[in-house]
Amino acid sequence: MHTATLSRSVRLFRAFRHEQTDRDTFYRVLAADSAEQVAASTPLRDRVLLDVGGGPGYFSDAFEARGATYVGVDPDVGELSARGEPGRNMVRANGTRLPVRTGSVDVCYSSNVLEHVSAPHAMLAEMVRVTKPGGTVFVSFTPWWSPWGGHETSPWHYLGGHYAARRYTGRHGHEPKNRYGSSLFSFSVGAALRWAAACEDATLVRAFPRYHPWWANWVVRVPALREVVSWNAVLVLRKDGDA
Ligand SMILES: C[S@@+](CC[C@H](N)C(=O)[O-])C[C@H]1O[C@@H](n2cnc3c(N)ncnc32)[C@H](O)[C@@H]1O
Repeated sequence: MHTATLSRSVRLFRAFRHEQTDRDTFYRVLAADSAEQVAASTPLRDRVLLDVGGGPGYFSDAFEARGATYVGVDPDVGELSARGEPGRNMVRANGTRLPVRTGSVDVCYSSNVLEHVSAPHAMLAEMVRVTKPGGTVFVSFTPWWSPWGGHETSPWHYLGGHYAARRYTGRHGHEPKNRYGSSLFSFSVGAALRWAAACEDATLVRAFPRYHPWWANWVVRVPALREVVSWNAVLVLRKDGDA
């Protein structure tokens, strides 16, 4: 039975409206949904899951509730401690140079991070490297041409990332947190799919729009359209080799 129904999309959309005012509720809803989505691709019970760019570990409770051992990495001390003292399962590290042994985690997960990384291909390669043969890489990101591609500078990013950042600064008196060229970059669904097709150590299992109902999954197969309407794209890969 499909759990990615239209009512689930509406529920998530309602939660997004409270992202700034009630972050705990927002993240509880998103984390539970994300864990369910990952569990549809791979078992989580008794598996080690590495969350790359996990912030303070927003998703740790939801993954642990499904029986996974959660380890999070994030390079930003402010993000790591956004909910107080970082947990013992949180490590300060860059997703492009993971301090993790090759082939050591069952599931390598990342949500909404690739678009913040200047070298997204390097991070994807690292995620594949640390995953066990037969393990799963589950990665989602906001494509640049998505209506939310410019994050808080949206929709002005459609006129250029630097212009959108300058406009935001002029209006708000401070730079956007997600600054094009330094903490926000343009990465596309097409580029991610081309990387997956060329990846020598893992095979693409599924690609779909993260928040859409299941019957809209076809949009990721349509060049150009997918960049705008996917909103947030998910790639699921299986690491090659015997488990
Ligand atoms: C929008 S937040 C996403 C947090 C969480 N994963 C989620 O889905 O809500 C982006 C996170 O990516 C982290 N990040 C930025 N550059 C990174 C890098 N090179 N490697 C790993 N994480 C990075 C940031 O510190 C921040 O915590």
